[in-house]
Amino acid sequence: MKTIVYWFSGTGNSLAVAKELAKSCGDAKLIPMAKALRNPPPSAERIGLVFPVYSFGPPELVARFVAKLNALPDAYIFAVVTYAGNQGGALSIVRRLLQKRGLDLAAGWGVKMPENYPPLGGAPAAEKQQAVNAAADEQIGKIAAELQQSPRGSYAQSSAVWRMLSWVAYPLFKKSVPRADRFFHADKKCNGCCICTRICPVNNVAMVDGRPSWMGHCEQCFACFHWCPQQAVQYGRSAKQHRYHHPDSSLEDMFQCGPGQA
Ligand SMILES: Cc1cc2nc3c(=O)[nH]c(=O)nc-3n(C[C@H](O)[C@H](O)[C@H](O)COP(=O)(O)O)c2cc1C
Ligand code: SF4
Ligand code: SF4
Repeated sequence: MKTIVYWFSGTGNSLAVAKELAKSCGDAKLIPMAKALRNPPPSAERIGLVFPVYSFGPPELVARFVAKLNALPDAYIFAVVTYAGNQGGALSIVRRLLQKRGLDLAAGWGVKMPENYPPLGGAPAAEKQQAVNAAADEQIGKIAAELQQSPRGSYAQSSAVWRMLSWVAYPLFKKSVPRADRFFHADKKCNGCCICTRICPVNNVAMVDGRPSWMGHCEQCFACFHWCPQQAVQYGRSAKQHRYHHPDSSLEDMFQCGPGQA
């Protein structure tokens, strides 16, 4: 296998980027990180890591994935982060995690995409979602073109202030994640369709007496929240918030990393 593009995604932003880059790489395979964690594939010549920014750093699942990644020392590794406001130190943190494994992050990019985090107001209205995604499409095209040259040593960076902020905010966020799913509940619109159980990348949603129950080992990706067809999943007082998923990512795509997949 020449190229593997690994992805992690809650609302399909990072997945849409991964799909475009895999297409532009030609002979590339797309693999969800959640699935690869259970069964890590052998190295490829080129390895892409595409994932969202969480509290100015990488999601914990991505850090666990990097610790298990099969990569030959001369593999060309690149990363693309998606973010809604500021990527902070996400790329530098992943670069350090790779260095600990004796691996090099050759290049990294960031793509600004629609917000999906309910505690910060959640997704924007549909018009804004479209405008942000139109600008993102342009940026993805540029990254795909640059990637053809296999650049080395170029990393999209936030300013030093934002990267310093990630030293404080990221560890605090990581500490809060395991218990953060206590704010989830399903309201009376729930019809028991089980999509939230099938979409969760870490099997954290179980049906108990026909209703979803969150089991205390959440990654905070908010897939269950945004993809519920009834908009029945609530996170605290989120009833009036917009739901969002990227228009080029489908439920079938997202189910690839769910609990039923090897
Ligand atoms: C738990 C969580 C934390 C987030 N933290 C940040 C952040 O620090 N900076 C930022 O710009 N966006 C942040 N976001 C927004 C996402 O990074 C952004 O919407 C991303 O494109 C979502 O990608 P996905 O659809 O692939 O999950 C956060 C989202 C979540 C769910
Ligand atoms: S996806 Fe929504 S409607 Fe379906 S079981 Fe989950 S909460 Fe209920
Ligand atoms: S419970 Fe919901 S937010 Fe948590 S990891 Fe699963 S899908 Fe993501």
